[in-house]
Amino acid sequence: MNNEQKKGFSRRTLIKGAAAAGGLAVASSFVPYRFAIGAQAKVKVGILLPYSGTYAMLGNSITDAMKLRIAAAGDMLGGRPVEYVAIDSQMSVPKAPQNTSKLVDKDSVDFVVGPVHSGIAAAMAKIIGKRDQPIMIVPNAGSNAVTGPLCSENIFRTSFSNWQPAYPGGTLMAKEGHKTCITIAWKYGAGRQMMDAGAEAFTKAGGKVIKDIEVPFPDVEFQAFLSEIASLKPDAVFAFFSGGGAIKFLKDYAAAGLKSIPLYGPGFLTEGVAKAAGAAAEGVRTTLHYSADLDNPSNHAFRAAYEKATGKGANVFAVQGYDAGSLIVQAMAKVKGDTGATADLIKAMENANFIDSPRGPWKMSAAHNPIQNIYLREVRNGAQKYLGIAAKALEDPAAGCKMA
Ligand code: BEZ
Repeated sequence: MNNEQKKGFSRRTLIKGAAAAGGLAVASSFVPYRFAIGAQAKVKVGILLPYSGTYAMLGNSITDAMKLRIAAAGDMLGGRPVEYVAIDSQMSVPKAPQNTSKLVDKDSVDFVVGPVHSGIAAAMAKIIGKRDQPIMIVPNAGSNAVTGPLCSENIFRTSFSNWQPAYPGGTLMAKEGHKTCITIAWKYGAGRQMMDAGAEAFTKAGGKVIKDIEVPFPDVEFQAFLSEIASLKPDAVFAFFSGGGAIKFLKDYAAAGLKSIPLYGPGFLTEGVAKAAGAAAEGVRTTLHYSADLDNPSNHAFRAAYEKATGKGANVFAVQGYDAGSLIVQAMAKVKGDTGATADLIKAMENANFIDSPRGPWKMSAAHNPIQNIYLREVRNGAQKYLGIAAKALEDPAAGCKMA
């Protein structure tokens, strides 16, 4: 099905038509081309993720795990074979509109899975959220706006909002007796939103943020900032870095002799990089919606399958990719492969079942963002050690989200 056909039977047209006829339940009966789809026509899954630069590990983990989940369904989506079209986002916000348009207009994909970077997510959502199709599934980027003011019926997220893993981290620092902290993060949407959320919780609990340091993205020259931290002597430091940049930050922090100042942050700081950071990561406490050692049968099975397929240990990014694959598999089964039955497809995605997620059970919120547990973890012997639940079934406030 090309985009002209898609436009002819758009989601909003379907919804309007169904509503006029007395209810959404009858929407799919308005779709004549549903029966024209060849049983073997491929379902196109477009992917816009980073495969180079500091977030390359994140993009690869998401892709491998999503493909693993779809392969477990026989590489079939609702009875149709799958075809992937992948683009390296290069973490470039200026290139995001062009990359999105390539997938949507030129390749006519049915789903777009991406991105990792919050700035790219907002740029993509501004384009895709205004259209009827395709369906966008965010497997990492936490931009609060994507499930806030930019929320849309055809945008879903299987990861987190930036607020979610950061807010409980601020509470934790105060609970552990710290009165002052310095925040340090890359200077772009994700860093800003996570630091604001952590600071909000810390301040609410009586703490004081004495300095807010922003590092240009994706720079890894931390020396001058670390000297400033050493001279200001806060009780604690709250940080957001991820991927290659997180390894460098952890090592530089330790080398600067700052290990005596406890380091906290949303779990991206140590996720997938604890081994590579070595002794520098030991003892760092973070909050996140996953811990490698979660003791549930789905997590054990997922980790074994992922390691067998990739030769690597799974991390939160892989879990988010796996759940993105699961969302597509479940919804496509429900509509029996009819990607044109958009209203039904959206409904199936809203009601998809994540009881068996490796992160533990979660549900899609009304804004299409996970309602999920946030765990407290600490790095011990190069691995995450689960210490408990920092926030149970935490739902993003989704301020400003109005579904069309
Ligand atoms: C973001 O840009 O939203 C992001 C990137 C890496 C890890 C977590 C969030």
